[in-house]
Amino acid sequence: MLNREKQILELLAFCNTSKMTPLSICDSLNILFKKIINRKHQPLTSVSLRLCGKRIFHILIIFLFSCTEKNPHGFTKGLTPVKWEGKLESSKDCGNCHKEIYKEWKTTRHRVAFTNELYKESHEREPLIWCVNCHAPMMKAGGDSLKIEDRIFTEEGISCIVCHKRGDRILTAHTPSNPKEHEYIEVKEMKRSEFCENCHQFNFPVGTGNVPHKNFKYSNQPMQNTFTEWQMSYFYGKETCQDCHMQPRDGYKTHLFQGGHNKEYLAKTFSVNLEKITNTDVKLTLTAKRIGHAFPTGDFFRTLIVKLLDKEENEIKRVVLRYEYEEVAVNRNSETLSAKRLRERNIITPPVSREDAYYIKNVSLSEPEVKNIHSYELSMSYINESNKLFSGVEDNHGKLVFKREKIKIVPGINTDE
Ligand code: HEC
Ligand code: HEC
Ligand code: HEC
Ligand code: HEC
Ligand code: HEC
Repeated sequence: MLNREKQILELLAFCNTSKMTPLSICDSLNILFKKIINRKHQPLTSVSLRLCGKRIFHILIIFLFSCTEKNPHGFTKGLTPVKWEGKLESSKDCGNCHKEIYKEWKTTRHRVAFTNELYKESHEREPLIWCVNCHAPMMKAGGDSLKIEDRIFTEEGISCIVCHKRGDRILTAHTPSNPKEHEYIEVKEMKRSEFCENCHQFNFPVGTGNVPHKNFKYSNQPMQNTFTEWQMSYFYGKETCQDCHMQPRDGYKTHLFQGGHNKEYLAKTFSVNLEKITNTDVKLTLTAKRIGHAFPTGDFFRTLIVKLLDKEENEIKRVVLRYEYEEVAVNRNSETLSAKRLRERNIITPPVSREDAYYIKNVSLSEPEVKNIHSYELSMSYINESNKLFSGVEDNHGKLVFKREKIKIVPGINTDE
């Protein structure tokens, strides 16, 4: 077989087994195809028939077809930007008619994905174009994917057009029965968690990640694992990301995308319970109501802090929930491994057999401390504590206290009181 034929077959096999880069694979296949055709000046069918036999040709056509159909949104899990063709439209333009949705979207982290203090600070420290592929993915037609200046509407982050517009058509989960305003591309994936997976599930880059983008590769270690956590949870097959983060109201899907920055939603989700085990030991139970994955999830600095306080709000004890990573020096120049390795995972794991998830920890204190427990406080921290000294991020962006409540220690099953 010719080298080129082998290449195509290999690519085909990869397209079949990897769900990582369907678009770029299809692109390569297309390019290879065109090259062969241009060289031989023969019609597509006869070249490919001669090339690989009839069956391969059919498989190839099916693949080319299914690849473009499968991925009309053009997301590639952060490997490439999304090319913008068509009339330039800001979310404000959509907001002229879709008023409620626009108002909701304006309150979201999606809108500030490229402009919030946390992102700006960490992107300055790691100025990779890779980050922009998810935080502000639209690139002007004919732009250079390595140039930040060629991205458009960066100040709108994950805007309406990022999720909804390709060319002059609107991506929608269901084409309206009597469309007047738009032409549509129906993307069934939009009502499935897989649509969110495009950005909310990915691995650490190999090495430190600080290589030119051309050589950028993912390692096999998850960096954000939210989709996989959802698949492992009770909610898999029952409720999607959209069901919880875009809850329907007045007949439409809200666009609030509440998450780890939303005080109200967080306060509704989490609560703490204390049971007495002995005079110096209490059992702390943190309950997460209807959470569809682990918590914290997403960004790997995300931390949930539980504090037990006395009457004067002095801290008696804190429990910290987060992922801990360590640097592995020998992996820094690796072609396959991440330089960060998971050391410890002290988090709420996804609920597996019921709706709510629990995190349970026995806390040892002194007798007076147990007596002095008066209330608990829950807060989020968004920055790496060890970076805090060097970080320019102010406290009001770096953390959020979302709940403070009086608490009574209840007698445990093993206590006589
Ligand atoms: C001039 C008013 C107007 C503007 C501007 C507008 N839309 Fe629409 N849109 C509508 C109307 C009316 C419908 C109802 C269906 C139809 O007529 O096609 C609709 C339907 C939709 C739907 C599908 C709703 C469904 O039933 O599933 C989506 C998605 C959508 N618009 C997104 C957008 C986005 C994104 C923008 C900005 C790029 C935008 N629209 C700009 C008026 C508008
Ligand atoms: C194009 C990439 C992209 C897609 C597609 C996407 N997101 Fe996001 N999402 C992001 C980024 C980037 C952020 C982080 C913004 C920030 O805080 O800097 C984010 C933030 C969020 C947050 C807020 C988390 C927090 O910490 O407060 C929620 C919730 C969320 N996304 C849910 C969804 C859901 C549900 C879907 C699918 C319907 C989805 N996202 C699709 C990129 C995306
Ligand atoms: C993170 C991706 C994302 C962003 C950003 C986003 N949408 Fe959506 N939108 C969706 C998804 C997913 C659905 C389909 C939900 C479903 O049917 O389950 C949807 C549905 C809609 C619908 C149909 C509503 C319905 O009830 O069926 C309209 C209209 C719409 N979006 C307009 C907008 C407008 C306008 C903006 C910007 C202000 C916007 N969207 C921003 C993901 C997004
Ligand atoms: C059964 C409901 C449910 C499902 C399904 C669900 N979530 Fe969540 N999600 C929650 C709740 C509850 C929270 C916590 C409250 C909050 O953060 O405001 C949350 C928080 C988050 C956060 C912020 C996490 C943090 O550590 O700060 C992100 C990001 C997120 N969800 C994304 C997703 C994505 C992506 C999916 C689908 C793969 C998904 N969620 C599925 C309920 C759900
Ligand atoms: C494959 C998509 C993707 C890539 C690439 C990516 N991010 Fe994100 N990023 C996300 C999503 C999704 C979230 C939301 C999860 C959450 O809020 O917990 C997020 C959250 C963040 C946050 C947390 C913001 C907050 O609100 O707390 C920071 C900071 C961040 N990213 C910085 C970066 C930097 C810097 C890079 C490049 C080195 C990068 N990201 C690359 C998808 C991506």
